[in-house]
Amino acid sequence: MTREIGLEIGSICSKYFLKLNHLHYGYWRSDIEVDIANLHLAQDEYAKFVISHIPDGVKTILDVGCGTGQIAKMLLDRGYQVDCVSPSPFLTKHVNELLGNRSHVFECCYEDLQTNNRYDMILFCESFQYIKVEPALANTNKLLNSDGYLFICDMFRKEINGKTIMGGGHKINRFNELITKFPFRLIENIDITEQTAPNMDLLNDVLQNVIQPITNAGARFFEIRHPIALKLLSFKYRRKINKLKEKYLAGGRAGEDFKKCKTYQLFLYKKETR
Ligand SMILES: C[S@@+](CC[C@H](N)C(=O)[O-])C[C@H]1O[C@@H](n2cnc3c(N)ncnc32)[C@H](O)[C@@H]1O
Repeated sequence: MTREIGLEIGSICSKYFLKLNHLHYGYWRSDIEVDIANLHLAQDEYAKFVISHIPDGVKTILDVGCGTGQIAKMLLDRGYQVDCVSPSPFLTKHVNELLGNRSHVFECCYEDLQTNNRYDMILFCESFQYIKVEPALANTNKLLNSDGYLFICDMFRKEINGKTIMGGGHKINRFNELITKFPFRLIENIDITEQTAPNMDLLNDVLQNVIQPITNAGARFFEIRHPIALKLLSFKYRRKINKLKEKYLAGGRAGEDFKKCKTYQLFLYKKETR
């Protein structure tokens, strides 16, 4: 629930301030300058990259965790038949407005999805990290046609020594282990960590140069207006405040850190009848 609210806020801010339509990372080709003003270009590049890897013969797609519905729209415009899964009422409303009756949107978590529909491909575009692995794979096995495809493009956590402040993503080793329990054969795997890491440089820049100074200014304002309340609140929530500072404002969230603890992968599997 809190993650969904986070995505909702992210979607409102990014659309309003940056005119972004997608909710995924940007794919930074070497000729796109890493600048927040170019994030929309890098996000479009990411969508094109995903679409260009859809195997021939696929006609029907289930877009799981469809976000704002932009990728679903691009797929519909290219002639695919697309249904969507969206657990967020806020995003679902947006997707329904965008896609109208061209697509059916299941408003639920993928783990809970029940339908008699079957698909040629099930797509997880930066949504797999939010979904429990085993129920997701079991449901995918059930909802795919006999020679269908499972397509995941998302970040995973590497096994590293020591603590990391970067959360998010399933453990890659665990995922590789769990998927062997299901009848999926890997047919394509592309590592795009290098092309996605610059997103973290941008995030780090915003945290250091926007959020940090705004937080400092807010603290100064309270110190002038409500010095005693500020002291009390700072003391009461000191652990939480220190944790947030350590997580978001102490650096350590740049592209190089991302490459150390994450791996961003495209995985394409074909369902096999064993
Ligand atoms: C980072 S956004 C990616 C959105 C979109 N696929 C894109 O590429 O722009 C993650 C998406 O996963 C969805 N999501 C989160 N938990 C989910 C779940 N349990 N089942 C299905 N979708 C989920 C969110 O609502 C959101 O749409």
